[in-house]
Amino acid sequence: MRVGVVLPAAGCGERMNMPMPKQFYEINGRPLIAYTIDCFHKIQWIEHIVISTCMDHIDMLKDMASRFGFGKVSVIHGGLTRHQSIHLGLKSLQHICNNLDVVIVHDAVRPLVSSDVIQKVAEMAHLHGAAGVCRPLISTVIARNEDQKLVESLDRTRYVASEMPQGFQTSVISAAYDKCTSEDFDHGTECLLLAMKYVGVHGIILDGSPDLWKVTYKKDLYAAESVLRERMLRI
Ligand code: CTP
Ligand code: MG
Repeated sequence: MRVGVVLPAAGCGERMNMPMPKQFYEINGRPLIAYTIDCFHKIQWIEHIVISTCMDHIDMLKDMASRFGFGKVSVIHGGLTRHQSIHLGLKSLQHICNNLDVVIVHDAVRPLVSSDVIQKVAEMAHLHGAAGVCRPLISTVIARNEDQKLVESLDRTRYVASEMPQGFQTSVISAAYDKCTSEDFDHGTECLLLAMKYVGVHGIILDGSPDLWKVTYKKDLYAAESVLRERMLRI
């Protein structure tokens, strides 16, 4: 199985509200994204990793990749939305590595993903066309109308939170992006939905570990920082 990775890293972290995007926040002298890259780079069977980032950070990321010896990494200019950044990363990855069987997509701001989870997602994607991971919902999901009145409450036992990484047969994710409407491309965030809606592939959803959280708010950053520091002390 030939596998490549796309790491979208072109967001500006509005909800974090810090001077620099959260993926570049330094923990023990390394930007957060370096920990995420390392999770994939150390896996011998992963052929290449494309990072899509904003123009201002391309040179810095290239320098960082050479400083940390990330030889399997390319850095490209991402897009205005997450789907744009992933799609651009996918095209670049296909240009660099012909005939990959599986493409894994993972957010640059999820630095705690394990090799086991990456392997399971890649294998299930290879077998079934697409695969992702989930975690139980913490809160009940409700909907309200424009008058802020409650209109719906979902049964929490039927729903889960979609996390990352996700994996796809290369032909499935390429076709999903080729076929999807601009409405889904511009406003959606879920690659597995595009695979289901436009290619008819119902991704396998595996149970994910609690370590898969996305760094979104400052509290998430501090939690990731404390786990990463503790892991470094153990090495
Ligand atoms: N992302 C991207 N291109 C974009 C927007 C987001 O590559 N135009 C990436 C982010 O860099 C991040 C991942 O998608 O690695 C998950 O997105 P999110 O957590 O929403 O990050 P931000 O968009 O940076 O944060 P916010 O929504 O708070 O602005
Ligand atoms: Mg965002």
